[in-house]
Amino acid sequence: MNVLVVGATGTLGRQVVRRAIEEGHQVTCLVRNPAKAAFLSEWGAHLKVGNLLQPSTLRAAMEGVEAVIDCATVRVTDTLSARQVDWDGKVALINAARAAQVGHFIFFSIMGAQHEYPNVPLMNFKHHIEKYLIGSQMPYTIFRPAGFMQGLIGQYAIPILEEQIVWVASESIPTAYLDTLDAARFAVRALSVEAAKQQVFPLVGPKAWTSEEVIALCEQLSGKKAKVRTIPLGVLRGARRVAQFFQWSWNIADRLAFVEVIAAKEPMYADMTPVCEALGIELASLTSLEDYLAEYFQKMLKRIRELKVKQPKVKRPF
Ligand SMILES: NC(=O)c1ccc[n+]([C@@H]2O[C@H](COP(=O)([O-])OP(=O)(O)OC[C@H]3O[C@@H](n4cnc5c(N)ncnc54)[C@H](OP(=O)(O)O)[C@@H]3O)[C@@H](O)[C@H]2O)c1
Repeated sequence: MNVLVVGATGTLGRQVVRRAIEEGHQVTCLVRNPAKAAFLSEWGAHLKVGNLLQPSTLRAAMEGVEAVIDCATVRVTDTLSARQVDWDGKVALINAARAAQVGHFIFFSIMGAQHEYPNVPLMNFKHHIEKYLIGSQMPYTIFRPAGFMQGLIGQYAIPILEEQIVWVASESIPTAYLDTLDAARFAVRALSVEAAKQQVFPLVGPKAWTSEEVIALCEQLSGKKAKVRTIPLGVLRGARRVAQFFQWSWNIADRLAFVEVIAAKEPMYADMTPVCEALGIELASLTSLEDYLAEYFQKMLKRIRELKVKQPKVKRPF
């Protein structure tokens, strides 16, 4: 099948590209910066330069496309806002796909997007884009992932290894983190399962974890004690108000707005049995956080040991 992946350079998008190629699909990636996406062509994907904010590039990218997998979202470091990328850009993408009579549009939303969160821009755009896609008359599949395991590396694993401070919110919701390799498996499988169309699926890992539990697991696997500092939710709300003042920090303010999702205590867990049955994926095959982090720490600790061996011994001056 001819598949267009949008957001192909991202954490999830690259896994979707790899999996789709492995399964024999012809993959085209819509990329903003081809130099940054060279690895995707090395894997066998075809690159088309485009931008969600330039509708003419989207129309051009749809030529011959049978299915779209949309993994794009605003980058926190980007000069573009969430409204531009996750609302205007997505509306333009859906319109271009519909005009090209694309046979299947797979959209990555977010867990909890069934509710309206007027004060959490990203959640709100996901909520409204889901509705827009459902109303588009195009065959669709919507996945609502909880957090990705890959995000835990920067948040917990690296600071613990480097003996830096680990910042945690005073309240957190247990979250069933998912490996992006598994998310990619579901998305690519949906391409060939007719029953996946006109469906909204939650996407979570095997078990929900609190921040404290993730930290304890990292401590056990790294052999290091975490230096944890707790930030009260009120302070995060204050930081968001400050960040809203400056245009350069609007995207940071939007991320900080997730504090309202924490406060709403929306569960970040779902029963994956029906999803696995619908898509023919074995529930037991989903990566556990224990296995994912164990592999990460084994690799990192091995690399650290090797670096120590390679370092030349400094002669004592006495
Ligand atoms: N991360 C999580 O824990 C999480 C949780 C729930 C749901 N999700 C959803 O899962 C999906 C994938 O997330 P992710 O973490 O893999 O995202 P990511 O790593 O931040 O990647 C974002 C992708 O979107 C692309 N992009 C941004 N602005 C664009 C524009 N104007 N035009 C074209 N492409 C643009 C980026 O391209 P460049 O490389 O050019 O910047 C990049 O490829 C998103 O829909 C996200 O909302 C993620």
